Amino acid sequence: MAVTEPTWAPDSWRALPAAQQPTWPDTEALGGVRERLRQLPPLVFAGEARNLLQALAEVAEGRAFLLQAGDCVESFREVSAIQIREKLKVLLQMSAVLTYGATLPVVKVGRIAGQFAKPRSAATETVDGVEVPSFRGHVVHSDERTPEARVPDPERIIQGYYQAASTLNLLRAFTKGGFADLTQVHTWNQEFVATSREGRRYEGIANEIGRALRFMQAIGIDLGSERSIHEVDVWTSHEGLLLDYEEPLTRCDSLTGQWYDCSAHMLWIGERTRALGGAHVEFFSGVHNPIGVKLGPEVTPDEVVALCERLNPLRVPGRLTLITRMGAARVRDALPPLLQAVRGAEVPVVWSCDPMHANTFQTPTGHKTRRFEDVMAEIEGFFAAHREVGTWPGGIHLEFTGDDVTECLGGSERVLEEHLLDRYETLCDPRLNARQALDCAFLIAELMRAA
Ligand code: PEP
Ligand code: CO
Repeated sequence: MAVTEPTWAPDSWRALPAAQQPTWPDTEALGGVRERLRQLPPLVFAGEARNLLQALAEVAEGRAFLLQAGDCVESFREVSAIQIREKLKVLLQMSAVLTYGATLPVVKVGRIAGQFAKPRSAATETVDGVEVPSFRGHVVHSDERTPEARVPDPERIIQGYYQAASTLNLLRAFTKGGFADLTQVHTWNQEFVATSREGRRYEGIANEIGRALRFMQAIGIDLGSERSIHEVDVWTSHEGLLLDYEEPLTRCDSLTGQWYDCSAHMLWIGERTRALGGAHVEFFSGVHNPIGVKLGPEVTPDEVVALCERLNPLRVPGRLTLITRMGAARVRDALPPLLQAVRGAEVPVVWSCDPMHANTFQTPTGHKTRRFEDVMAEIEGFFAAHREVGTWPGGIHLEFTGDDVTECLGGSERVLEEHLLDRYETLCDPRLNARQALDCAFLIAELMRAA
């Protein structure tokens, strides 16, 4: 695959408008940080990104499903082994539900180990009558709500690199070192989940998986030597927003001579930075990782086709994932014309549903939240639109946490507006808690079976 245009270079984006970048007070210090980052080892290898590309090609062709999920924004304070493990548990649980329910391979991609930078709709927010710059993620500044704390500090980019490295290291250990072994399927059920309706439903599936494994053993299959039972691949991804982080981690692969952004296996371009003439599309047109693009309800079919031509001119299956976030009310009308246009252009893509970002609203107390029923309704609308057009509803993109938070309203334990502040811990968008995330997985498994 040679998507690199002759004029492309890791820094060719600099000639174009780059939306949503922090206003760094000291560009010399920023340049120094970029130089140090350029000297540091890559976080992932090009060969791994190619393996993910292969796995996503299976999704594009309707033979697998993409589960991409994790935090809205990772905090620099929450890097404990426990927090990473609890997130991974939920991801593994969802994946077990989907794989078992739909009997299809599930490609697991975390919003993890680098999901540090946030685009913002408004440049400033008002705190006790004082206007402060909006929070753009710990890789930029502190979340403390004072003007001084919100001054961008480029040293945080280096801190982000090391935090991504240690998160990835633990993730690799957990996924290859026995924790993700399918025989451990019961132990992924957290205590606060196990007692709920979803937890009991999960327990049922875990029992059946256990039975299936014992059956295979009984007929003489040597489970001990089956790698896929003992290890899983969990790939990393984040929004490739902060180009001063992505550029220095972009390396030329010695095997192929092609450029890869080695900050993560997969990167996506956000809804606010996907302008065709903008820096982000330019940058990601030249790196060979699998790439995602978020598409909101205002996008036109022509724009989507132009993005496909620009980001996947050679029509490589697995290269491009289109992540639609239309809102529960609009998805059924807004999605079919896009599906038809892309099919007409004959560009293979993975269609994934982000049922979170167009279903956000503010409560009277000024807290961002989402209704669980809207999340579910957008997922149903996404499947309905694909059924109508005859395309493959390839994936899901969720924001969840392994913690028992109360950030999204509803769900089977019925988080009510008056409960919202009990455990409202997010630094940015409201996330599904583990029970709500599991509930989503059950719904999707049912919809996939019907598809
Ligand atoms: C996100 O995924 O956290 C995000 C900001 O999404 P979007 O670009 O779709 O608004
Ligand atoms: Co978000």
